[in-house]
Amino acid sequence: MSSVSLGIPLVRSATGSDPARPDDSYLVDRFGRVATDLRVSLTDRCNLRCTYCMPPEGLDWMPGDQALSDDEVVRLVRVAVTQLGVRQVRFTGGEPLLRRGLEQILRAVASLGPRPRISLTTNGIGLARRAEALVDAGLDRVNVSLDTLRPDRFREISRRDRLPDVLEGLRVASGTGLRPVKVNAVLLRGANDDEAGELLRYCLERGYELRFIEQMPLDAQHGWARSSMITAAEIMDRLATEYRLDPDPQERGAAPAERWLVDGGPGAVGIIASVTRPFCGDCDRTRLTADGQLRSCLFSQGETDLRGPMRSGAGDEEIAALWRDTMWRKAVGHGIDDPDFAQPDRPMSAIGG
Ligand SMILES: C[S@@+](CC[C@H](N)C(=O)[O-])C[C@H]1O[C@@H](n2cnc3c(N)ncnc32)[C@H](O)[C@@H]1O
Ligand code: SF4
Repeated sequence: MSSVSLGIPLVRSATGSDPARPDDSYLVDRFGRVATDLRVSLTDRCNLRCTYCMPPEGLDWMPGDQALSDDEVVRLVRVAVTQLGVRQVRFTGGEPLLRRGLEQILRAVASLGPRPRISLTTNGIGLARRAEALVDAGLDRVNVSLDTLRPDRFREISRRDRLPDVLEGLRVASGTGLRPVKVNAVLLRGANDDEAGELLRYCLERGYELRFIEQMPLDAQHGWARSSMITAAEIMDRLATEYRLDPDPQERGAAPAERWLVDGGPGAVGIIASVTRPFCGDCDRTRLTADGQLRSCLFSQGETDLRGPMRSGAGDEEIAALWRDTMWRKAVGHGIDDPDFAQPDRPMSAIGG
């Protein structure tokens, strides 16, 4: 790989880093992967309590002084984009729409050069009101989570009565011209697993791209069980009773979703089979938590503190070197199938999904 061809200078890693690491500015790892997609969690708080994510009472939220300020978030994203080759930034959480400075952060990130593509993963509550301002600030794409179309089920799964807000958020976001509008759905046995076909019809009719996500062991309550999760194969079987699904001939690249054309296309559906068909070998992601901890993977057992060095006066180059070293050590895979697999200490809502 030539760094020079993409206009990023070659820079040596910080002292103390693995001497085997090539002299490369990019976020390369020992297995030849290059991280260009940054997920940034803007808060660990949420206004829903999805059963597969957090307990009814919520969690011990991060104290305010531990969370990165808007300027600190922007500085770290700037380092990633201008020094480390990050090309895509996705803001998530917790619920990122709860972050007051979201529009300012988007605006600052959109003004970086080279301008990264900017996306948001949200539960959609409040999106109808904010969508236009978010687009105006630089948002390019949105993923909205929607597990059911039935209000009683929505109440059971998310423990809040907010389905109309989510559907309205989707409608307005689509009207602002955000493309593609993606919908994320998690199917849970006995709760909504008979709704795969209905959800797909709803999304196809409105031009949203639906992706089913296999439930992962990242819930705060540690309630995940492989034996009860709905697998990608089951989802395919259910959809196949109503639709013809053909593999999308488009190259998948580092996309987590396997795509299928529905009834000959152009409508498509994606399945993110993180558990039963892991795609770690093609992973291009690097992750930053709302308190400034860097993770090379959702399932990492360790984190690298960037907030401490940043608040102690570290320069951009020092931060970039810490980032490179962390990604160099990225594990080959998430290891969910390993006998000694241990769920990370932080749940998905605190890491950023
Ligand atoms: C953690 S949420 C954060 C953003 C926002 N609150 C939302 O729900 O879209 C990001 C995505 O992770 C998914 N998610 C949460 N917990 C999960 C789990 N245990 N397994 C699989 N997906 C999960 C959610 O359904 C959502 O699509
Ligand atoms: S999945 Fe998203 S919306 Fe649901 S509780 Fe977790 S962070 Fe909140």
